[in-house]
Amino acid sequence: MPEIKKIGVIGAGQMGSGIAHVCAQSGYDVIVSDISEEVLQKSLANIAKNLDRQVQKGKLSEEEKAATLSRISTGTDLSVFGDADLVIEAATENENLKRDIFKKLVPNLKPEALVATNTSSISITRLAASTDRPAKFMGMHFMNPVPVMQLVELIRGIATDEETFEAVRELTARIGKTAAVAEDFPAFIVNRILLPMINEAVYTLYEGVGGVEAIDTALKLGANHPMGPLELADFIGLDTCLAVMQVLYEGLADSKYRPCPLLVKYVEAGWVGRKVGRGFYDYSKNPPVPTR
Ligand SMILES: NC(=O)c1ccc[n+]([C@@H]2O[C@H](COP(=O)([O-])OP(=O)(O)OC[C@H]3O[C@@H](n4cnc5c(N)ncnc54)[C@H](O)[C@@H]3O)[C@@H](O)[C@H]2O)c1
Repeated sequence: MPEIKKIGVIGAGQMGSGIAHVCAQSGYDVIVSDISEEVLQKSLANIAKNLDRQVQKGKLSEEEKAATLSRISTGTDLSVFGDADLVIEAATENENLKRDIFKKLVPNLKPEALVATNTSSISITRLAASTDRPAKFMGMHFMNPVPVMQLVELIRGIATDEETFEAVRELTARIGKTAAVAEDFPAFIVNRILLPMINEAVYTLYEGVGGVEAIDTALKLGANHPMGPLELADFIGLDTCLAVMQVLYEGLADSKYRPCPLLVKYVEAGWVGRKVGRGFYDYSKNPPVPTR
């Protein structure tokens, strides 16, 4: 089985930062890349803040925090992945963008390096086909926030070999996560179920069945969900939610998955949720205020 010691992460947003955090905390050397130095610095600051939170809760010592941070390095060029044993892609949920990243990435890799994608919905088989190593490629779908959430969905493409699958399954266990294996269908298991519920919550808002607060309160207190669906949509990122619905709609060719026009409008306005300070709630206020 290929041995994984050094892990590369492409994309230093919410997910890439969380993946780098848990891998480094579990003792792996991690190298993270994104399109700008500014994004990388913000990511490192976020990781440090989240580690501080673990220290305050007594789950981590100051020494472990310092050691975790010392294992993370960054760079804006894909050449930094030359000695990575596994590269996990966690860039924006857009198939063309991801394919382009993989095409540019593979000439920089060792021949035996494995590649995984954290895509929420896109075909693993199609993404694998944009690399020179479909047998060494698979889906590794973390949940947000990565340091807190227990699950990683593992998805084989049609060509993924058993060695690759077992190496990634072993890594998942070593970083303290639990794997659920899904087949390569649009949005896999979690988002096949979760995103249509969120989309339906946006329809409920769009049709005036309830306001933002009523919808979230209804699901929290009426269905015992820890977060309301609109709050959760803001947390995931409305751009990601829309991208997943589009993949479901096109991939399964069923009108029941059509994205709600209000979701489309929020994304077009740039109101993509918590990461930009505005979505179904306005996060510039404390506590956040519903926008409808
Ligand atoms: N947000 C969630 O709840 C969640 C959960 C599981 C999986 N995902 C998936 O994880 C991936 C990232 O989502 P996110 O929530 O972290 O989004 P995000 O918007 O927070 O981060 C995306 C990052 O990708 C970077 N990026 C864009 N183009 C790039 C390029 N060419 N090279 C390198 N970096 C590039 C952006 O600068 C940004 O920092 C998506 O595929 C998404 O579907 C998201």
